[in-house]
Amino acid sequence: MPIDLRIAATSLLEAVPLPVFVVDRQCVITYFNKQSQRHYDPIQIQEGMPLGEVLRSSAILQLVANSIEVNAPQKGQFEVGTSDIAYKVTVNPLIYNYNAQPSAQAEQPTASQYFAVVIEDMTEARHIERVQRDFIANISHELRTPLTSVRLLTETLEDAIDTDPDRAQEFVGKIETEVQYLSELVAELLELSRIESGQTIMTIEPIEAERLVREVMARMLPLAQRHRVQIGTDIHQGGTLVVADRKQITRVLINLVHNAIKFTPSGGSIIIGTLLQEDQHTQRFHVVDTGVGIQAEELSRIFERFYKTDRARAKADFIGPGGGGTGLGLAIARRVIESHGGRIWAQSKVGEGSTFAFTLPVAVRSEETDGESIHSTGL
Ligand SMILES: Nc1ncnc2c1ncn2[C@@H]1O[C@H](COP(=O)(O)OP(=O)(O)O)[C@@H](O)[C@H]1O
Ligand SMILES: [Mg+2]
Repeated sequence: MPIDLRIAATSLLEAVPLPVFVVDRQCVITYFNKQSQRHYDPIQIQEGMPLGEVLRSSAILQLVANSIEVNAPQKGQFEVGTSDIAYKVTVNPLIYNYNAQPSAQAEQPTASQYFAVVIEDMTEARHIERVQRDFIANISHELRTPLTSVRLLTETLEDAIDTDPDRAQEFVGKIETEVQYLSELVAELLELSRIESGQTIMTIEPIEAERLVREVMARMLPLAQRHRVQIGTDIHQGGTLVVADRKQITRVLINLVHNAIKFTPSGGSIIIGTLLQEDQHTQRFHVVDTGVGIQAEELSRIFERFYKTDRARAKADFIGPGGGGTGLGLAIARRVIESHGGRIWAQSKVGEGSTFAFTLPVAVRSEETDGESIHSTGL
């Protein structure tokens, strides 16, 4: 190949954001781009190495062998087990006979000496696809269950309405609960999709950390009292101004406290707290309960859309109204906190309780330069 062309071809391959290998007819690597080294790290790829030492999948190697044998392009999709890991592989014979003299033999195409193997990692795309499929399946399920209840309750109500007014009243109550759940589900779905599509307009303003905590405390106190759960605050550096959309953050805190109330048996206690982090740039908020707790393997999943722990699904720990939640609250909370530039996490011990915490960025006041402190203690 003329030297200029070789340089151009090489830089082209280096610009491809996918692993590319060139192999000879013995399936030995004669060229690989930087991306392949990055992708297959820690394997130290070298020219002269059999491709089989890098790609361990016999199915992919078979595809390359087929392409060599038939001297024609080959394509395939390969999955690794039942996981989302999947690769799209394309093998192309390289037409490479610059030195060949035009002759009568040119009529007969000669077999290529080199083959380009391009590997496309489909894992991410597969994962997104699966999440979307699960999401639709979940929505359908979450809608169908209460709708079925409403249908059955209405039928029974029709029978009882004349003969047994007390029972009829009971059914009306149950229908109301289901309808309330459905409205909540639809509202939360809309909110989540609005947040995810970036349609929610955030009204960001500096707010005192203490004010957020006190407001949520006041709003949740009646529910806590009704369920005989103690509720208190633990405010440090409450005067810190955080940069936040007050409505959204209040809703996140309310959801955390509501969860804490739901999953804490009577006699337990809940603390809503806030505290300036050591870095002085972030304020932490937390809701600590002495409730049922969450198992370690479930803890990593509770921020997923629709995820409810087995106990929550079994409704074993539900107390009071709004008990049968949608499983969307924490997913919304995570989106909200992350869109504020914060972080949200949970810690828990089964039987001892859970702590949900998040951070928000601290507002920088212009008066700071005048020597006024931004952080008065709110104790
Ligand atoms: N404080 C808590 N204690 C125990 N489990 C909790 C707590 N908060 C959340 N969870 C678990 O996380 C799940 C998801 O919470 P969330 O997204 O708010 O959904 P929902 O409250 O609608 O069930 C709950 O169903 C429950 O299993
Ligand atoms: Mg909730």
